[in-house]
Amino acid sequence: MLKETIENLDLPKLLEFADGSPVRTVEDWQRRRKEILELLCEEVYGICPPAPEKVSTIVNGENENAYAGKVLEQNLTLFTEFDNKTFSFPLNVFIPKFVKKPMVIIYIAFRPNIPDRYLPIEEITDEGFAVATFCYNDIAADREDNFTEGLAGLLKKGDVRAGNDTGKIMMWAWAASRVVDYLETRDDIDHKNIAVMGHSRLGKTALVAAAYDERFAFSFPNNSGCSGDAITRGKEGERIEHITKTFPYWFCPNYKKYAGREKEMPFDQHFLVAAIAPRFVCAGTAVEDTWADPNSQYISYIVADEVYKLLGKKGFVHPDRFPEVGDIFHEGDLGFHLRAGTHFHSRYDWLRFMDFMKKHRIT
Ligand code: GCU
Repeated sequence: MLKETIENLDLPKLLEFADGSPVRTVEDWQRRRKEILELLCEEVYGICPPAPEKVSTIVNGENENAYAGKVLEQNLTLFTEFDNKTFSFPLNVFIPKFVKKPMVIIYIAFRPNIPDRYLPIEEITDEGFAVATFCYNDIAADREDNFTEGLAGLLKKGDVRAGNDTGKIMMWAWAASRVVDYLETRDDIDHKNIAVMGHSRLGKTALVAAAYDERFAFSFPNNSGCSGDAITRGKEGERIEHITKTFPYWFCPNYKKYAGREKEMPFDQHFLVAAIAPRFVCAGTAVEDTWADPNSQYISYIVADEVYKLLGKKGFVHPDRFPEVGDIFHEGDLGFHLRAGTHFHSRYDWLRFMDFMKKHRIT
């Protein structure tokens, strides 16, 4: 049943180079992955900002006995230096004190509030996870500011944005990588198990971050939908014409040429998911989130599976039908759940993501 639906979408092939030659081996895939990442920079998200020459932090505040004495909380400023420029942003870290080298979730947050309705810190640290979180607006403002503020202002080239100029999703993803730069200098966390997580536009960001930075062992895109994990061809709800009209600054200017012309795209969103292989991706979706379209999200994982198989992994383990409310598919390297309710980053999603990470922890 799924096979026919997917064949009818006529999706661009993952296991075929742009020149039409086949991708047969692991080495072939490494080259193909590079090609895919360059294509997505060029056509969707814009080029990656440079990695900094130097990253450092200062501690502005610390509570060794946060959350009933169970958690070390640190409020930092993270400084980066690149191309003779300095860019800094606030970062908050929460380490459960009674766990040796906890796994870490880098949470890209909508709001600076801690805790927040999307970020129940105590429940997460009680599960044994460390959290490192920053607010995306501290990196580049989520509005049309003509790319004058924050990291966007520093990267700006000319007055008019054009071609593959970096979009804001890519900038927020860049910041998540800077948090990894910093976490690598700490010896009280588990460096092998670093995840990046976000909701909606920040779910799209969590995918981009993990696609471009192999230090993320897990990506958790929650309700990421259009231009995140949902296949664009045949998609219900939001489409490129909507997203590039309302949020042009999330992307590079090239992306809008595909509005209403999805069939001409030499890629679709399974390219973004597959670029994370062989690492873990686990998606949260919601049945009433028709703007994101859970069925189109699900298809990305089904088709990305062939890359995982080529790399000798389990891939996506799922039944031959579309998902139903309450489904949780956590057996493979690609995970998926469909919950009841609307677009939101809920406790239910957090619990499923943490289950997945515990189950697949890299030792
Ligand atoms: C809008 C947008 C979505 C996005 C969402 C969000 O609805 O159209 O693409 O995912 O905002 O970030 O909450």
